[in-house]
Amino acid sequence: MDFERVGFVVIVAILCGACMSPFAAAQTGGPFAIRIACGSTVDSVANETGYAWSKDTGYSGGKGAAAPATNRIAGHLHTLRYFESTDGPQSCYNISVPSGHYLTRFFFTFGETDNAGQEPVFEVSVEGTLVYSLTSGWSSMVDNEYGDSLLHITDGAATICFHSSGHGNPAIGSLEILQLYVDAYNMGSSANLNVVMRTIKRVTAGAAQSGYGSRMHADAWGGDRYWATDQTLFAPGSPIGVLRTEANISNFGNPPNIYPQAIYQSATTTEPSNKLSYIVPVQPGQNYSIWLHFAEIAPEVTGPGMRVFNVMANDALLFPAVDIVNITGSPFRALILNKTITAESRTLTISFVPLKGSVAVNAFEVFHVIPREYASFDENVWALQAIKQSQNLPPRLGWNGDPCVPPVHPWIGVKCVFDALAGAWFVSSLALDQQGVGGVLGDAWVGLRQLQSLNLSKNLLVGEIPSSFGNMSSLTSLDLSHNRLNGSIPSTLGQLVILKELLLNDNLLSGEVPPALGALLIRGASLNVANNPGLCGVGIGPCTHMSASEKLALILSLVIGSAILASCAMFLWIKHKASSRGAQRLPRDAPYAKARTTFVRDVQMARSMLQNHFSRPAPTYTEATPLNPH
Ligand SMILES: *[C@@H]1O[C@H](CO)[C@@H](O)[C@H](O)[C@H]1NC(C)=O
Ligand SMILES: *[C@@H]1O[C@H](CO)[C@@H](O)[C@H](O)[C@H]1NC(C)=O
Ligand SMILES: *[C@@H]1O[C@H](CO)[C@@H](O)[C@H](O)[C@H]1NC(C)=O
Ligand SMILES: *[C@@H]1O[C@H](CO)[C@@H](O)[C@H](O)[C@H]1NC(C)=O
Ligand SMILES: *[C@@H]1O[C@H](CO)[C@@H](O)[C@H](O)[C@H]1NC(C)=O
Ligand SMILES: *[C@@H]1O[C@H](CO)[C@@H](O)[C@H](O)[C@H]1NC(C)=O
Ligand SMILES: *[C@@H]1O[C@H](CO)[C@@H](O)[C@H](O)[C@H]1NC(C)=O
Ligand SMILES: *[C@@H]1O[C@H](CO)[C@@H](O)[C@H](O)[C@H]1NC(C)=O
Ligand SMILES: *[C@@H]1O[C@H](CO)[C@@H](O)[C@H](O)[C@H]1NC(C)=O
Repeated sequence: MDFERVGFVVIVAILCGACMSPFAAAQTGGPFAIRIACGSTVDSVANETGYAWSKDTGYSGGKGAAAPATNRIAGHLHTLRYFESTDGPQSCYNISVPSGHYLTRFFFTFGETDNAGQEPVFEVSVEGTLVYSLTSGWSSMVDNEYGDSLLHITDGAATICFHSSGHGNPAIGSLEILQLYVDAYNMGSSANLNVVMRTIKRVTAGAAQSGYGSRMHADAWGGDRYWATDQTLFAPGSPIGVLRTEANISNFGNPPNIYPQAIYQSATTTEPSNKLSYIVPVQPGQNYSIWLHFAEIAPEVTGPGMRVFNVMANDALLFPAVDIVNITGSPFRALILNKTITAESRTLTISFVPLKGSVAVNAFEVFHVIPREYASFDENVWALQAIKQSQNLPPRLGWNGDPCVPPVHPWIGVKCVFDALAGAWFVSSLALDQQGVGGVLGDAWVGLRQLQSLNLSKNLLVGEIPSSFGNMSSLTSLDLSHNRLNGSIPSTLGQLVILKELLLNDNLLSGEVPPALGALLIRGASLNVANNPGLCGVGIGPCTHMSASEKLALILSLVIGSAILASCAMFLWIKHKASSRGAQRLPRDAPYAKARTTFVRDVQMARSMLQNHFSRPAPTYTEATPLNPH
């Protein structure tokens, strides 16, 4: 750790003459930057850099604890924030930032209080897109303590969520959100808006030490990127050489990427007959953006045609016959090449193959280009946030971040469907049965307009069923049974014309069941209003105070009912006569028995089909969620 800082000092001493980058003053107004010392209760300033570190803020929950490992981004930080299962399966930071292009960086760490010294396994999403999977063994690889990724944030706040896998408590040491130029890392199209670029490797070849962009006196708009030296990658005695210069490099540090001069002042080189390869682990089928940095700094290479090499990505030719001096026009002048490829295997081997002279590479970056997730409908999100507040949802549900994304980590009880036309997710099912949901049902629920199934059975709900529930026109199943709901059933529920299941049993409802709900039964839907002490009407029994028309209806139904009974009796009697006369004897009540059996079976079938379709068991936060193989 101290090693890092010593290295940093050395680099500063060497470079101080180059403090003034030609573009340092090009941008009016500094970049937006926020640096959060997770778990810390005080603001601080890092003496090394002068950067202000804010005390912990913007988190959804969790606890602060001591971080035993040195924070390798800001050595004076000694705290972390961790999220226990009682905080729910996902915990988030929500940090206000102006719309723009950002580098987000994390320093992952863990300790005794938070994880009993055991490495936690979890995933991290940024703006709903899964960006990191810290799989078992991550902490043994120093590279993995850092994570930075580039993305556009346009909704006014950066949402960074930690998704528990059930193995340990997610923990974070520090978090930075650093603004970049809007068109930084433009891959040649406007596609950057729709992707997150996660840094896989950022290497300064031939450098004596690793270091941060800011401490190499790059422009602040560079996002303080961390450049790792490649010197630790080579086995001792490897046939590689190092080129270093203190001479000024021209054409570096241009917007939009603002690279530090230092990355061009060293290079790794080989013998003329050797190729140089770097191997990067990747996921097959995923896209990777490769950025290569060159500047001719060898004193003996003075003109074009003296150093020419191919750049290969696995077996594919990425850049043929690269002749740095021919392209730049002179030595000591920076050259940047970028290309995006689709990985075909688990490794990406970037090779520099000499055609003339030896090869020399100054720096390179590899990004995983991750398509961004679509967000949930705002209205759905607001509705669920309001519900979380008003229905006293227990903290263990979490319910932080976006309810539907990342799609592998929806909120507990929430099931979503993607609407390709609208380009958004919507909540199609809410299973909050037996979750301790309390309070009075409000109008917030109506924001879930596309909700098809709502199960609030066996909770602590009180008060009346709001008439606005009749506006949730997509509902096919509504289960409010086993609560303490009182008052009368709103007649607006009759507007739910595709409802197939309405369960209001075991509440304290009173008054008359709205006659409109009779339509449910006619459609063959199920209605259960049993065990409500004060209830009468459809589905239960006649009410004592009836209007004239209702009386008439009752009388009519009684008359028709008796007529049916009478004709059945007649039919049976005739059958009986016939069977006693005929050779074959039918069971006495066969027609009835047969009809009833069929009816019961149909209902059961319908129920089990509905159940399969709508009632998904609520995922519990303790269950081990399989991690994406990132
Ligand atoms: C910065 O340096 C001052 C003076 O040397 C010291 O008092 C302070 O604790 C240091 N702050 C940090 C964050 O290291
Ligand atoms: C995040 O914060 C912004 C304002 O700072 C707020 O409008 C938004 O609702 C918050 N989002 C969540 C998911 O809490
Ligand atoms: C990256 O490469 C593309 C395609 O060659 C090019 O259009 C784009 O300008 C390059 N980006 C930068 C920042 O050099
Ligand atoms: C690099 O350029 C700066 C001015 O931009 C100059 O002061 C310095 O002497 C130069 N360094 C070398 C090694 O040429
Ligand atoms: C990779 O990039 C291509 C071309 O832009 C795109 O069509 C494809 O969907 C991308 N694949 C992934 C997995 O992002
Ligand atoms: C420089 O490149 C051009 C084409 O890009 C080529 O025609 C020329 O021969 C090259 N010069 C040398 C010296 O290789
Ligand atoms: C609602 O959840 C309860 C379990 O808590 C279950 O018994 C019931 O069948 C569910 N209702 C529906 C309509 O699926
Ligand atoms: C429900 O729908 C009615 C009629 O369309 C409307 O007047 C009322 O405002 C809606 N209620 C809510 C809470 O959206
Ligand atoms: C319903 O219960 C609440 C208390 O939970 C009470 O204030 C209200 O008066 C009751 N309403 C009816 C119609 O009984």
